[in-house]
Amino acid sequence: MIKACIFDLDGVLVDTAQYHFLAWSRLAKELGIEFTAADNERLKGVSRMRSLEIILELGGVSLSETEKADLADKKNKWFVEYLGQMVPGEIFPGVKSLLERLREMGIKVAVASSSKNAETVLGLLHIQDAFDTVVDGTMVTNAKPDPEIFLLAARKLEVDPAECVVFEDAAAGVEAALAAGMKCIGVGSPTQLGHANRVIAKAGEFKTTELKEL
Ligand code: BG6
Ligand code: MG
Repeated sequence: MIKACIFDLDGVLVDTAQYHFLAWSRLAKELGIEFTAADNERLKGVSRMRSLEIILELGGVSLSETEKADLADKKNKWFVEYLGQMVPGEIFPGVKSLLERLREMGIKVAVASSSKNAETVLGLLHIQDAFDTVVDGTMVTNAKPDPEIFLLAARKLEVDPAECVVFEDAAAGVEAALAAGMKCIGVGSPTQLGHANRVIAKAGEFKTTELKEL
């Protein structure tokens, strides 16, 4: 029986990829690297540093760890600045009512996001109070596909991993959820997320009656 729903943030609750794209594009331009919207797709669900490394690889640029850390910081400052444009209405349709319905049913609800900006994004969407706990990239050492972040969420919720379902839009996230011994609903395309127990196009489409079918 499912007792908790754990949501990835970026790409599941809201489209932050457009703001990441603005910031990464600005950095790529400064470095003289061509970076397209198609390239940006490769960065979804990928850590900040790995994202930078992918961009540097695109340009055939190799830098020291210190230089990379400085560039990642610079990108993040721009990202946070662009996030300032985000409004609560950007939460994906149906998500807010899904979160409310789950809580009414006594199901625990969490966010487990690799982003170190998760609290900021939840604040901008005015949905911090919709969750029993938030676990983010500042609290874990191993990035998805490692199950650490989901296991930490379950521990904080005091729910057994087998009683949790994760909503994830990235293949690495689906892998992490399954490795944690949880059920997983892929949010996006079945071609990319085929390992999940089910795949739906948008999180807001999920019907709570489907929980018992997992
Ligand atoms: C993930 C996003 O949730 O968080 C990635 O899908 C992002 O695109 C990663 O790179 C890390 O985010 P941040 O905000 O810590 O740079
Ligand atoms: Mg995501």
